[in-house]
Amino acid sequence: MDKQINIKETLDWYIWAGVVETCADEVCLNTSSENTHFSLSQPTTAHTPAPVIEKNHIPSAPVRANVSLAAFDNIAKNARELCSKASSLEELKDLVQKFDGCNLKKTAANTVFGDGSSQARVLLIGEAPGADEDRIGSPFVGKCGKLLDKMLAAININRADCYITNVLPWRPPGNRTPTDEEIAICLPFLKRQIELIKPDFLLLLGGIALKSLLDVPDSISRTRGKWLEYVIDEQKTAQVLATYHPSYLLRSPSQKAKVWSDLLRLQKKMNNDE
Ligand code: URA
Repeated sequence: MDKQINIKETLDWYIWAGVVETCADEVCLNTSSENTHFSLSQPTTAHTPAPVIEKNHIPSAPVRANVSLAAFDNIAKNARELCSKASSLEELKDLVQKFDGCNLKKTAANTVFGDGSSQARVLLIGEAPGADEDRIGSPFVGKCGKLLDKMLAAININRADCYITNVLPWRPPGNRTPTDEEIAICLPFLKRQIELIKPDFLLLLGGIALKSLLDVPDSISRTRGKWLEYVIDEQKTAQVLATYHPSYLLRSPSQKAKVWSDLLRLQKKMNNDE
């Protein structure tokens, strides 16, 4: 009986603290302040006060596993070699789903590969799947995705005509910032998607997409809205525009005007008006 009470109290406390998933070794906190399917009100059961966890606390990057640099290089090399074998997006998706070299896969529910038209003129790149994307298995289908759809519609771009992907195909636990190693291991998958699609334009959503793909010294706030280039291969160079990530806009709606002006620049260039 004692044991039952303890389990209930423990679960109540997890729910109160915002835990929404129990599939991983470490608990994942719900980092959004709204839209949780659990009530965040304190349970009525009297128990020892739990440690205070801030609602918006995001778990920090895990302590580095003791992986030698040589082993890490091998994993990244392996990913690059694998990718070069894929001659279509379907083949690449299959390879990514079978790839076990990234620790993020262990805690993710799904591999979230890119989605959209293989003939797209514009390829959008986000950071990593969130909770909804991880559950459903497609990029930008949650709150951020809804905002992204509206942003595209505002410049008369149909989402179905684009290709949308992320730097990482697996959700970092609790939406924490991906480590440099995780980015380096997964980058070949992103680069191969770009090579297979050969878009005219890349729209980079947020700082992680920007720093992963281009060697720019400045932050996203200084780089957004400026035309850059990404060399896809000897024949093709894409025009690149970076802007703020939709999740940042959800937190800071006052930045919407800047993104709006970035999107207008993209629209103009796509229509050869700039
Ligand atoms: N944020 C991202 O960067 N990508 C998604 O797919 C969803 C949210």
